[in-house]
Amino acid sequence: MTPAQKAGQLSQYMWADALTAADDEADGGLGDTMTPAQQRAQVEAALARGEVGSLLFVTDPEETNRLQRLALDGNPHGVPLLFGYDVIHGLRTIFPVPIAMAASWDPAIVERAQAVAAREARAVGIHWTFAPMVDIARDPRWGRIVEGAGEDAVLGAAIGAAQVRGFQGERWDDPERVIAGPKHFAGYGAAVGGRDYDEVELSDHRLWNVYLPPFRAAIEAGAGNVMTAYMDLNGIPATGNRWLFTEVLRETFGFDGFVVSDFNAVRNLVTHGFAADLRDAGVRALSAGTDMEMAMADPAFATLPDSLAAGDVDLDVLDRAARRVLLAKARAGLLDDPFVDVERSREVLADPAHREVAREAAERAAVLLRNEGSLLPLDPAALSRVAVLGPLAESRRDLLGPWCFDYDLDETPTLAEGLRARLGNAVVDSAWGVRPVVRPTPSLFDAHGGNKPIVPADFDDDAEFARAIELATAADVAVVVLGEWQNMIGEQASRSSLELPGRQLELLQAVVATGTPVVLCLVNGRPVDLRWAAENVPAIIELWYPGTQGAAAAARLLVGDVSPGGKLPLTWPRSVGQVPIVYSHTISHDPANQAARYWDEPSTPLFPFGHGLSYTRFAYGVVTLDRDSIGPDDTATVSVTVTNTGDHAADEVVQLYVHQRHGAASRPIRELKGFCRVTLEPGAAETVTFPLGRDQLTYWNAATRGWVLDATVVDIAVGGDSTAPFTAAVTVTAERAS
Ligand code: NOJ
Repeated sequence: MTPAQKAGQLSQYMWADALTAADDEADGGLGDTMTPAQQRAQVEAALARGEVGSLLFVTDPEETNRLQRLALDGNPHGVPLLFGYDVIHGLRTIFPVPIAMAASWDPAIVERAQAVAAREARAVGIHWTFAPMVDIARDPRWGRIVEGAGEDAVLGAAIGAAQVRGFQGERWDDPERVIAGPKHFAGYGAAVGGRDYDEVELSDHRLWNVYLPPFRAAIEAGAGNVMTAYMDLNGIPATGNRWLFTEVLRETFGFDGFVVSDFNAVRNLVTHGFAADLRDAGVRALSAGTDMEMAMADPAFATLPDSLAAGDVDLDVLDRAARRVLLAKARAGLLDDPFVDVERSREVLADPAHREVAREAAERAAVLLRNEGSLLPLDPAALSRVAVLGPLAESRRDLLGPWCFDYDLDETPTLAEGLRARLGNAVVDSAWGVRPVVRPTPSLFDAHGGNKPIVPADFDDDAEFARAIELATAADVAVVVLGEWQNMIGEQASRSSLELPGRQLELLQAVVATGTPVVLCLVNGRPVDLRWAAENVPAIIELWYPGTQGAAAAARLLVGDVSPGGKLPLTWPRSVGQVPIVYSHTISHDPANQAARYWDEPSTPLFPFGHGLSYTRFAYGVVTLDRDSIGPDDTATVSVTVTNTGDHAADEVVQLYVHQRHGAASRPIRELKGFCRVTLEPGAAETVTFPLGRDQLTYWNAATRGWVLDATVVDIAVGGDSTAPFTAAVTVTAERAS
């Protein structure tokens, strides 16, 4: 291959089919330099020269075949294109958003869901997904908290690895799997102030102990790709950070796949004030370890042949990157069969079995936050009138959440329709009550049709509010559906407030004032301010953005066909002023007043990490260990028996927390070290065991600048959330591990 052909293999272009002339005005990411039509012409010309390695955002199988043909015809070596796409939580069948999937605390359902997503994606010609997002997120103002698994390293690692297994399966050339690309390496979730793309300052100890473990787990699960991050990490743009890609990713984690930049992130090295110009950006990104550049147009990597000729980049470095990309194509089976069977793709997308997995996932993801007086489950036989109220009660698009584009709204019933279908005989009325809220600034994705809420031109605020209250008054129960419209969360969707947008709280308060029992259903992807609701609304259930089958799942949950069993993958703050707040803080001066660190509001969360109620009750037996002390190479087994003492079959997520009493660093007040979701019939019991040894207790120490296993005493708590009491302890006799 010539240098230009090699550089071409390292260039991934957006196929801007979705962008129309209207996007020119809105600047659909092209700036003012190029129209979408010009951009497409540039890509087709590069294809004809054999200088494109990959395209992103093509989901039409016929178009995939056309572009693949152009690539093969243009490339003298017959190297096919790799097609990449954001298959984040489904392609046609939309699963709950990733934060919801994490709330299932169930790696098995996560793996099954992503296997379905992979099957649909591969059927239309996508070989590679830009997922999972394994960024730890501890600030709900950050819109992309919805795309990850929340605040915790151990949960994040388990969910991230499960996604990789689901996407990739055993073999990449499996015609039903895709390459997984954990992102964004690394630290993106810690954007200062929760402002998307803003800089990140993370200490080494926070990086190694909290932010990197999910990446390591995803790589150990076999991920074939890693995506860089947009922001500066400790003053160095992540996309040009040689330490991250060489020492951490390849040398420490043993990654042997290819690294892709985030979209336009290579040219951004100039924006950051890091690279001198586009050519310098290309050299520095490649040399740092970014193998492929994802770009809209004019990739910096197109200048690599010049840089090579000038001696600014080594041929070895260019070859190494090209080899990684070509190897990925070979391993994905592209050299054997790069084309799509269009007929088969239709059948795969329509597979009803996929919708079943989506319903099950939505059921397992829901979290029952409050259930005073056991208002839930509702008894269908006792209901003759139900009012489903709120501006999200009749929305289809918002149930799906952000980061999906190929959905089918016809197979996405609204929550009101879902309840109507399940309740059969009861009259189910619905009203918006208050007008949908339109973001004052457009979302990045509003250019895609149907992304933003539509407010009917004749919307009469007073009449609509009055109608909602009238329906609530006449009903046996009011189901109020509130949250955030899906275009309020995701990329470029950070908020400075966590309040329910618009007049939703006012509606809720007025409905509660009618005296009709109220169930609050939340449709959202980040904690919102529920201080009033948590004291005044008897039942609150977090549905998240539950996906294609969200309405069916919600109806089944509300009437008790299935009990909620999800748990919060994050600490739920009372108000935005508490942010960031995590359960795994350290202990310092005056711990007795830990709950009163502010004088104006408790410094405890509204709902703790791991919280989630059930329609039944669980009793925990005595926590036991099979030994009193563990040496450096021992593993203790922690056991506890959990019994369903209520009268509903239900799931419990049994959680193991540890606290190290003393050592070479102050360790958190508690840290999750294991979890297991069990299903128990009424009266049934199960003994759950967890390993506890070096893997769980070693941590990275900022003083020794290495991994440490302290000789210490470790307190152990097992329970249904992060407030479980410490009831056992084990002595660790080890000194340093390495
Ligand atoms: C930018 C986002 O940061 C990244 O997560 C995504 O995969 C790419 N755009 C491609 O859509």
